Amino acid sequence: MCGIVGYVGKERCVEVLMQGLGHLEYRGYDSAGLALHEGSGIESIREVGRLENLGRTVAARNGHLSRLRAGIGHTRWATHGRPSQENAHPQVGGEGSVAVVHNGIIENFAELKEELLERGVRFGSETDTEVMAHLLAERIEGNPGEPLREALSGVLGRLEGSFAVAAVSAAEPGVVVAARHQSPLVVGLGNGENFLASAVQALLGETREFLVVENGEVVEVTDASVRIFTQDGEPVEREPFEVDWDAEAVELGIYEDFMMKEIHEQPEALRATLSGRLDAGGGVDLSEMGLDLSGIDRIVVVACGTALHAGLLGKGLIERLARVPVEVAVASEYRYSDPIGDENTLVVAISQSGETTDTLAAVGTARAFGGKVLAVTNTRGSLITREADAVLLTQAGPEICVASTKAFAAQVAVLDLLALNLARVKGTIGEDELLSLGRDLRRAPEKVAATLALLEGKIGDAVELFEDARCSLFLGRGPAFPAALEGALKLKEISYIPSEGYAAGEMKHGPIALVDEQCPVVAILGEGTLREKTLSNVEETAARGANVIAIAREDDPAAERVGRVVLSVPDAPEILRPLVWTVPLQLLAHDVATDRGLDVDKPRNLAKSVTVE
Ligand code: M6R
Repeated sequence: MCGIVGYVGKERCVEVLMQGLGHLEYRGYDSAGLALHEGSGIESIREVGRLENLGRTVAARNGHLSRLRAGIGHTRWATHGRPSQENAHPQVGGEGSVAVVHNGIIENFAELKEELLERGVRFGSETDTEVMAHLLAERIEGNPGEPLREALSGVLGRLEGSFAVAAVSAAEPGVVVAARHQSPLVVGLGNGENFLASAVQALLGETREFLVVENGEVVEVTDASVRIFTQDGEPVEREPFEVDWDAEAVELGIYEDFMMKEIHEQPEALRATLSGRLDAGGGVDLSEMGLDLSGIDRIVVVACGTALHAGLLGKGLIERLARVPVEVAVASEYRYSDPIGDENTLVVAISQSGETTDTLAAVGTARAFGGKVLAVTNTRGSLITREADAVLLTQAGPEICVASTKAFAAQVAVLDLLALNLARVKGTIGEDELLSLGRDLRRAPEKVAATLALLEGKIGDAVELFEDARCSLFLGRGPAFPAALEGALKLKEISYIPSEGYAAGEMKHGPIALVDEQCPVVAILGEGTLREKTLSNVEETAARGANVIAIAREDDPAAERVGRVVLSVPDAPEILRPLVWTVPLQLLAHDVATDRGLDVDKPRNLAKSVTVE
């Protein structure tokens, strides 16, 4: 939550900062701001609302800003203080001679604020960040000649909470400093210029070479150097890493929004995620994990939101194929639980961003019983990769839209691989059947692409059923139940229509009371033994006036019978069905939201990386 960018180098600071913020806007979009070294001072500019508002203000400054060479920028997801100009970052101290941008929460800010107020400091905002700006200004004033990075280290020693922070001071033109504790921060390396950002996505148009800043470190960036220090001031040597994501991956291309682009990138996300891990004969190779799974007798999945739904799908398959019990825990609950487990428990932490605070904390909780931790993440070098014993990267490419789509598909594919691998290690399934399932899984990109093609231009009738909707129910059984949960989450987070995912059989124990003409029911009919049961449950809703949208395989006569609208998907091997069912649910959520004139990429109140508790 919140995006930070920093730049030092050529006469293009504002351009780089604004572009970088544009690529980080998914992290928060309540307000945005810049602090720029200008002559012997710092110029701060802040605007409420989307980045385009800040862009207009910058453009109105007669272009002189375009020649500045160093500064920091911020896009905000409000934690302390409503979205307003005063609460926007940068926050300044020392009469504007020091400016700070921050991602995270300073938990002891109230005590620090009281202390500063007693010393006569005047506050202009309700933010926790402002205490940092004042403390830094005081420190600089009290220690003339002390390097800014040392002053920042001194201030950090007083802070509790999580943060990535960047700062500039009028006393050190051409220098940007930053530090990190729990919130992400990377340095981008350039030629005669260097960069800082919360995530590599911000800088893909500038560089592919990055340095990670670790917890507790402070970094000093100039046009010619990047120096990392421990909080005690010891220099740190850090090897750069290369990022292979394309700059185009963070551009819209032919699409109107990132959600639609990312839905259509699912075949490629699946292909890249399976590549090298599944051979033509269906053999799985997850040796990259370096984990011996033979002694594992229990699995705990910790995750949030969409990643949790992927975990539920993983549970079904792992338990069925490998006969290892799997608990799927909401990370924000698990972190405060008294967990059960031992060294034979595998903890699978799933997180697209690899930064989600609750998921990271849940991993910490699981450590208490000595289990091995496997991270499934889309973000190389993210916090979770450093907390885990082993990592399986999903290869979905950067996901920009707040609503997760292609990352979900890739997470499901990784969990499918894990299930097959575990079944082989445990010997619970014969080799032929395992290989056959592996060959089925190889068809995931093809089947998802076929689903997209089949549904092209077919969502409109279903969208119409949502025109007067006051709520909606998503129903499924077996593997269709987690898919229903995911469909409901997608719809509610971007269209703001209250939506619930329910196990179809559970519906008559309460939620059926919601059903009428204004509560469309989205039913994933599924296959096999549960299909007939699901159909009966759906009939029960139709009998009470529900407008049913049936997700069913092509040419399914029962679907035509119960559904006002049928969204057909291709017939697919069992292991691929959840991936195939999810596609119409994603498209439906997208089209319902855009039909209501909503911004699907940046739904209200949300941010993509949830780095606060
Ligand atoms: O980055 P993570 O996978 O840890 O994020 C978890 C959730 O915050 C995320 O999936 C969220 O639920 C999405 N907005 C869903 O579309």
